[in-house]
This record gives sequence, structure tokens and C-alpha cells, in this order.
Amino acid sequence: MKGLFIVLEGPDGSGKSTMAQMIASYLEDKGHNIVFTREPGGTPIGEKLRDIILDNKNIEMADTTEALLYAAARAQLVAEKIKPLIEKGKTIISERFVYSSLVYQGIGRKLGVNNVKMINDFGLQGIKPDIVLFFDIDPEKALNRKIEINGGDRLEQEDISFHRSVFEGYKEIIKDYSEIKTINAERTKEEIFEEIKFIIDENLNKIFNSEKY
Ligand code: TYD
Repeated sequence: MKGLFIVLEGPDGSGKSTMAQMIASYLEDKGHNIVFTREPGGTPIGEKLRDIILDNKNIEMADTTEALLYAAARAQLVAEKIKPLIEKGKTIISERFVYSSLVYQGIGRKLGVNNVKMINDFGLQGIKPDIVLFFDIDPEKALNRKIEINGGDRLEQEDISFHRSVFEGYKEIIKDYSEIKTINAERTKEEIFEEIKFIIDENLNKIFNSEKY
């Protein structure tokens, strides 16, 4: 059986980590074998790249370098974990994937969505998630929550206008990527999770039926 690949996307501080845990225990109860991952990072090489990318000291980093480092960390993650684990039938839950680069670098940094897509496609090996959940929450609300907790990394320290353009960017790319499902994330944890369960069950049924016939 081919595995399942679920991606959580959305502004910094939108509650992706909490939901990742809840999804994992829900699917574990259904017999799934879960592997968590996060971006940038998720592999030893990727975590080293993450330290370089998010280091507050790296103020001179060119936007193009930033985009290439994210793409490099992702290429390693696909090669080392995502592709082999999907082939083994595991269920992968990833906080962020290529969609983050399309909006943070393509739109936030103004490098162009197509340019960013192009440098990423090279490392993706054709891998596409089964479900992408976009956490729709006002970026200012989400970010304040995050900065209160951890002080903010290099990306989080960006001006609120940057985060706003990223948020609008998500709304823009959703039109071109039908695998992205929008979740109203300005509700209680329980309400958000109810909707996510519905989406997951719908997808599992679809996959089950296509394997059957
Ligand atoms: P992280 O602390 O993991 O943020 P979060 O918990 O909100 O996911 O830091 C990741 C930061 O990197 C976040 O600000 C989004 C940014 N990012 C990009 O700009 N491009 C990318 O391709 C990815 C994966 C993340």
C-alpha cells in the first residue's frame, strides 16, 4: 500500500504544530504508522540548513540564496525521508512544504512564484501531497502569539507587511493548487479539528475506493 502525505501550511503561529499532533493520534488509532517532519529541516542536513536560514545574524543573506537553501533542505527531505517512506506505506505529516516557498519567497520576497516553483521542482522528484491544509488566520494575530512564546526568528522578525503579503499569497496560489483545503483557523481547537477529520476521512475513502477498483 502506498502511504499518505499530509502537509500543514499557514502563517507563523497559526496552530499547525498542535493540529499535527491531533491528526497523528487520530490516524494512529486507525492503524497508520506516522512520521512527523518539518520544514526547513526534517533531516540532519536539512536541520543544519535551517540553522543558517533562520539565524538572526545572517542579515546579509540574499533573497535568492534564501530560496535556494529552502529548496536544498526540501530536496534532501524528499530524497532521504518522504519518497522512501511513502513507498513503505507510512503516513507523513509535514509542517510546511513547497507551498511555503511559493508564497514566502515567491510573493513575500517578490522572487516570482514561477521562478521559485522551477528551482523546487528539480528536487521534488514528482512528489505531491495527498492533502494540504491551509490554516486561514489573520497573520498579525497568529504572529503575535508566536513572538510572545519564542521571541521570533529571522523570518518572524520581518515587518508585518511582509507577513500580510505572504498571507495574501496563500490565497492567490490556492486557485492553482486544488490539493489545498482552506481551514478557518480562527476557531476553537475542537472546531478546527472536526473539520480536519472530515477532510481526512473523505480523502481516505477516495484512496480506499481507488485501490479497490
Ligand atoms: P518555523 O519556526 O518552523 O515556523 P512555523 O512554526 O511557523 O512553521 O520557521 C519556519 C520559517 O521559515 C517561517 O517563518 C516560514 C519560513 N519559510 C519560508 O520562508 N520558506 C519556506 O519554504 C519554508 C518551508 C519556511
